[in-house]
Amino acid sequence: MVLAAADRAALRALWKKLGGNVGVYTTEALERMFLSFPSTTTYFLHLDLSPGSAQVKAHGQKVADALTLAMDHLDDLPCTLSALRRLHAHELRVDPTSFQVSPQAGPGPPFPATTGRGRTTPAGRPLSPQLLGHCLLVTLARHFPGDFSAALQASLDRFLSHVISALAADCG
Ligand code: HEM
Repeated sequence: MVLAAADRAALRALWKKLGGNVGVYTTEALERMFLSFPSTTTYFLHLDLSPGSAQVKAHGQKVADALTLAMDHLDDLPCTLSALRRLHAHELRVDPTSFQVSPQAGPGPPFPATTGRGRTTPAGRPLSPQLLGHCLLVTLARHFPGDFSAALQASLDRFLSHVISALAADCG
C-alpha cells in the first residue's frame, strides 16, 4: 500500500517539527504503553522499566531512529526495515502474530510465560505493536494539540500501520 501525497506531506512536516526530539516522544510512548498495557512488558523484563529509566530512554531512541529511517524510505519500507524484521522474528522471537491487531490485546496483568530471549508469546493473546502506535499518537496529540488534526492523526496512523506491516513481512 502506498501513502498518498497528502499523507507524506503531513508526516514530513510533523517530523520536521519534532526535530531531534523524536526519541523523547517515543520514550514517553513506551512508558505510557508499559503502564497502560502491562502485558507489553513481557518482552522487556530484562530492562529497567521504572519511570525515567535510562534503558527505556535508550530503547525509545532506537525506535525513534527506526521510525525516522522509515520516514525517509516511505516507498520501500519492507526492504528498509528487513534487518529489523529479521531481528524481531529470529533473534528476539517476537511472534509474527504480534504484528497483527489482536482483539484480545489490551490492559491486563503481565503474561506469566515468556519466549525469545527467555520470553514466550502466550497462545491466544498476542501482543499488539498497535498499542505502541496508539501510545505514540496520544503522546504527540498531547504535545502538539494545535497540529493534531483528525487528518494528521489518520496520516500518522497509516504510516505506523505500514511500519508494522513491514516488520511482519519479507521484502521481495
Ligand atoms: C512499531 C513497531 C516497532 C519498532 C519500530 C521497533 C523497533 C525496534 C528497534 C529499532 C529495536 C533495536 C534494534 C537493535 O538494537 O538493533 C528494537 C528492539 C526490540 N524490540 Fe522492537 N520495534 C517494534 C515493535 C516491537 C514489538 C511489538 C515488540 C514486542 C512485543 C518488540 C520487542 C523488542 C525487543 C524485546 C527489543 C530488544 C530490546 C533490548 O533488548 O534492548 N518490538 N525494536
